[in-house]
Amino acid sequence: MRVLFLGDIVGAPGREMVIEYLPRLKRKYQPTFVIANGENSAHGRGITEKIARELFDAGIQAITLGNHSWDNKEIFEFIDREQRLIRPANYPEGTPGSGLTYIKTVQGELAVINLMGRSFLPPLECPFRTADQLVEEAKKRTRLIFVDFHAEATSEKQALAWYLDGKVSAVVGTHTHVQTGDERILPGGTGYLTDVGMCGPQDGILGMEREAVIKKFLTQLPVRFEVAGGASQLNAVVFTLDGATGLTRQVERIRIDADHPFME
Ligand code: FE2
Repeated sequence: MRVLFLGDIVGAPGREMVIEYLPRLKRKYQPTFVIANGENSAHGRGITEKIARELFDAGIQAITLGNHSWDNKEIFEFIDREQRLIRPANYPEGTPGSGLTYIKTVQGELAVINLMGRSFLPPLECPFRTADQLVEEAKKRTRLIFVDFHAEATSEKQALAWYLDGKVSAVVGTHTHVQTGDERILPGGTGYLTDVGMCGPQDGILGMEREAVIKKFLTQLPVRFEVAGGASQLNAVVFTLDGATGLTRQVERIRIDADHPFME
């Protein structure tokens, strides 16, 4: 069975790429489970209920978030009743929502865990110890466990992947919006990719308009970032899992953009 994970969806251009290419990706890879990080899907900042519905209707079965989880206040209203939408599990106790969900299919059940790093990001609870607790909990239900680690530092992402090697099916990193080329299977059988990259504008800076970002670096003045226009890209990864052990047998990185057209 296969898990298809789509990197951070940025604004309308990212959503349009997902709607255009997900049916074709599903035909090609026949994934059992489809997950996406949606923390930038509402104009680059957070997610709304309408957009979450649009993504579920497009075929995504679970949505993970990150440091922009709370950018749209309406999320407080719906994250507790929408179990398919999760936020980093290591937010403090009492935070709305949950960091663990399950995708049930006739072929099996996948636990999806969302965590956030603490290097160059807000100081949440320890993601490593939170992972221990959630993996223990998920293991009671299924051997198939997928982790989206929303983090800035490559070292923290690698450390969590090695820490969980052999205990979970796969660990992916999100947040940097730039896909890394280091997909692999660790010795214990856990599939890994440091950062999946994003679905969104190809020629912006991390998906946002270049002019504003450059102005920010030049002047240090407060600047309002808007989602960039122009050509779009879609970054994703597919893990083929062994149903008996829950471990990864194969990893394939996906990059679709103006220079890398989709091949059926
Ligand atoms: Fe982020």
